[in-house]
Amino acid sequence: MALLEIRVLGDPVLREETRPVEAVTDEVRQLVDDMFETMYAAKGIGLAAPQVGRTERIAVVDVDGARYALVNPEIVAADGKRRGEEGCLSIPDIYADVERNAHVVVRALDRDGKSFEVDAADLLAVCLQHEIDHLHGKLFVDYLSVLKRRAAMAKWAKEKDRYPGYVRTIVPGESDSEHPEEEL
Ligand code: NI
Repeated sequence: MALLEIRVLGDPVLREETRPVEAVTDEVRQLVDDMFETMYAAKGIGLAAPQVGRTERIAVVDVDGARYALVNPEIVAADGKRRGEEGCLSIPDIYADVERNAHVVVRALDRDGKSFEVDAADLLAVCLQHEIDHLHGKLFVDYLSVLKRRAAMAKWAKEKDRYPGYVRTIVPGESDSEHPEEEL
């Protein structure tokens, strides 16, 4: 396995639409495993392929032990509303409240290419929505009001110089984040 570099806000790959995976090959499994390793090293709870510079439609999550590799995930049902603070491994140290569906059902292929569904509520539901957004070039800051987004971007303008080339190198056992458990 290998640790991957995380791309931060400003890298165009974060705004690209991903392409569906046609077959879950060994190469796909390798990417999934590397993404899990990178997510854990960064102390995140979710990670999507564009965040490691890839365009495959793949995400991984682990919310309190609810661990899923998601290939070609899609939301097939959603209801309720839930507002909570979010952060993102690709926008370090920026946090803001986002309104999401409180409950979602997500259908995806697993690491073996088998179809499955996750019926998720609370933080897992938020995490799944956040990661699936990543797979369509969308970031949590896109949901903010103009004023809140402006404040977040002003803070980011000071942070971003720490990531030359829009690359965040993860050092295992180290985290420079204020509250990393909420980064997705
Ligand atoms: Ni994110």
